[in-house]
Amino acid sequence: MADDLLRYRSEFPILSETTYLISNSLGAMPRGVYDAMKGYADLWATRGVKAWEERWWMLALEVGNEIGALMNAGKNSVSTHPNVTTCQAVVASCFDFSGKRNKVVYTDMNFPSVMYFWEAQRKRGARVHMVKTDDGITVPTERLLAAIDEETLLVPISHVIFRSAFINDAKAIIERSHRVGAMVLLDVFQSLGTVPVDVQELNVDFACGGVLKWLCGGPGVGYLYVRPDLGTKLEPTFTGWSAHENSFEFAVGPIRYTDPPYRFLNGTPHIPALEACLPGVRIIKEVGVQRIREKSKRQTARLIELADQHGWRVNTPRDPEKRGGTVSIDMPDSQEVSRELLQRKIMIDWRPKAGVRMAPHFYNTDDEIQRAINAVEEILKGRSVSVP
Ligand SMILES: Cc1ncc(COP(=O)(O)O)c(C=O)c1O
Repeated sequence: MADDLLRYRSEFPILSETTYLISNSLGAMPRGVYDAMKGYADLWATRGVKAWEERWWMLALEVGNEIGALMNAGKNSVSTHPNVTTCQAVVASCFDFSGKRNKVVYTDMNFPSVMYFWEAQRKRGARVHMVKTDDGITVPTERLLAAIDEETLLVPISHVIFRSAFINDAKAIIERSHRVGAMVLLDVFQSLGTVPVDVQELNVDFACGGVLKWLCGGPGVGYLYVRPDLGTKLEPTFTGWSAHENSFEFAVGPIRYTDPPYRFLNGTPHIPALEACLPGVRIIKEVGVQRIREKSKRQTARLIELADQHGWRVNTPRDPEKRGGTVSIDMPDSQEVSRELLQRKIMIDWRPKAGVRMAPHFYNTDDEIQRAINAVEEILKGRSVSVP
């Protein structure tokens, strides 16, 4: 059957040079980024300081709305930040951890940066409760739900686990949290762009992520959705002049908060990164996450099938409904294999407790999947020959 999504391949220069199976780490750069960056430089060069009023000051709003549309967020409910860790900090700064409700529940399968941030909040009074994985692949949902209690303030949790691509049961976690008066900060970095996310349907309190993986938006842009009813009430203490009711009044004294999304910003926005991310975000919107998901389920299933045929360990859920866009394969000598694959311009990565991560996106062909697996087979054969 013809794969209609392959017509987008010509938009991504690196696809003609490499076998690019690493969109869970850094999505391929759309060629449109060259024009976007030239546009940025031209505007700066020709309009100088007027660029702020003509484009730059409104860019965070524009980009936030474009990203928001991908997760069915209402207009003006998504702010942009340099990365996910900053998003966590903005949310944490809205709360006080000195009361009885000061428990933060998360799992050891969260991305480490998020973990380091919350562990450090112990110094601010947060009682951090970490739920541990049993198998290194999944999160024990029942134990996680049981840990969320009346003293829980926040549950910062990944939607899709970076190591194994396990899809957490976000709906159950959010429902349980709301039943006991806690809030959920869902990290959708590894889902948005490859697994459907609907923040309104989930009724999630906060959602954050970045654009550099599945959205092909490059480094430097994180995003934070705040549910509109919370957005108008919360007062982040990690704040700054972008969040002021009238930034250009340069008023002295405490902040007077403006409305979302600017309310959740702080200092001068990261303009070049915001410009660079738009071509990728727009392509993902045009392609449609539903179509990406269908293809991803098929190609990740094929990867698992091929790994099984070779008897390699698969550290990713086999149920497609519980699996995001990545397949982690721990073949023998997986770290060395990953180095050799990179030398052969087969772009993948390796993570401890995961193995070689392969992440096909909408622009990958079935042949590329086969080529990567054939290369692993060849490398392993070569290694067994060279070992005395
Ligand atoms: C689920 C998840 N969260 C967060 C991050 C990164 O956080 P930050 O944007 O703060 O670097 C990653 C990977 O880079 C990730 O996979």
